Amino acid sequence: MPGQSNLLIELQSVSYAYPGSQFPVLQDICLCVGRAEFISVIGPNGSGKSTLARIISGLLLPTGGRVLVDGMDTGTPKTRKDIRRRVGLVLQNPDNQLVAAVVEEDVAFGPENLCLPSAEVRRRVEDALNAVGLSQVRGRPPHMLSGGEKQRLAIAGLLALCPLCVVLDEPTSMLDPVGRQEVLQVLRHLSDSGTAVILITHHMDEAAGADRVWVLGKGGVLADDEPAAVFSRVKLLHELGLTSTSAGDLAYRLSERGLELPTGIVIMEDMIKYLCRVLK
Ligand SMILES: Nc1ncnc2c1ncn2[C@@H]1O[C@H](COP(=O)(O)OP(=O)(O)OP(=O)(O)O)[C@@H](O)[C@H]1O
Ligand SMILES: [Mg+2]
Repeated sequence: MPGQSNLLIELQSVSYAYPGSQFPVLQDICLCVGRAEFISVIGPNGSGKSTLARIISGLLLPTGGRVLVDGMDTGTPKTRKDIRRRVGLVLQNPDNQLVAAVVEEDVAFGPENLCLPSAEVRRRVEDALNAVGLSQVRGRPPHMLSGGEKQRLAIAGLLALCPLCVVLDEPTSMLDPVGRQEVLQVLRHLSDSGTAVILITHHMDEAAGADRVWVLGKGGVLADDEPAAVFSRVKLLHELGLTSTSAGDLAYRLSERGLELPTGIVIMEDMIKYLCRVLK
C-alpha cells in the first residue's frame, strides 16, 4: 500500500536483457531504497548503471523479477502515471531536458501538465527554484545559464512534480568543480528534507558523500554498503577498473609501503584530520 512503510523502492530478483540480446545486462538483482535515503551507484562503463536508472524510473520494464515503487509494481500499466510522479530521472546533458524559453516557465511545465490549479503551480515553482538556489535567475532564458545552473534547473523541473525519489544519471559529468559542488549540495539538501536520491557517478569522491553505495559489475551488485566499507575494498574496485576515493587510494598506497592506517578513512577531510593528529 502506497506510503505505508519506510521502504520506497524494491528490486526483487530483477533481470534485464535488451531486445534481441541473448545476454542480460542485469541479472537477479535485489536492492532496496528507503525513503529519503541517498544512494550512489558506481560501476565500470557498460555495467548497467543507466539501464538500472531506467528500470527504477519505470521507463524500462524488467525482463525478469519485479520493481516495486511505493508498493506499486512498475509492470502494472495502470500505475505507470503514479510511478512517473513518484520517481524522476535527470540525465547527463541538461540541454535535453529543458523545454521552455524562460527558467520559471520551464519549471512550471511539469505541474501545468498535471492540470494543477495555477496557485498550486506557482507555489511549486517557487519552492523548486528556492530548493536549487535559482530564484534569482527565474526570468532568464535557460540557454543563458551555466552548466551547473542548467543541471539544477533540470532538477527543479522534477522537484515541481513533488517526487519521492530522484534518479540522476551522471548529472555532474559535464560540470566544473564549482558546478559539481552546487549540484551535490542540492542533492544532499533534498535527501535531508525527505526525497530519496539515487546518484550515478564515475566520481568516487562524489559517491562517498552518499549514505550507501551500490557497486555494479559482472551483471550484478558486487557491493551494497556504507561508503567507508565500499571504498576500503580497494582491490575489488581496482579489479573492476575503478578506483577508490582520493583518500581511500592514498590509504591503500601507504599500506602498500607498510604504513597501516585505520580502515575506513575514505574521505579527504578525515584523512587530513588523521594525518594532522599523528604528524603533530
Ligand atoms: N538500447 C540498447 N540496446 C541494446 N543494448 C544496449 C542498449 N543500451 C545499452 N545497451 C548495452 O547494455 C549494457 C549496459 O549499458 P548501460 O548504458 O546501462 O551501462 P552504464 O553502466 O550506464 O555505462 P556508462 O558508464 O558507459 O554510462 C552495455 O553493454 C550496452 O552496450
Ligand atoms: Mg550510463
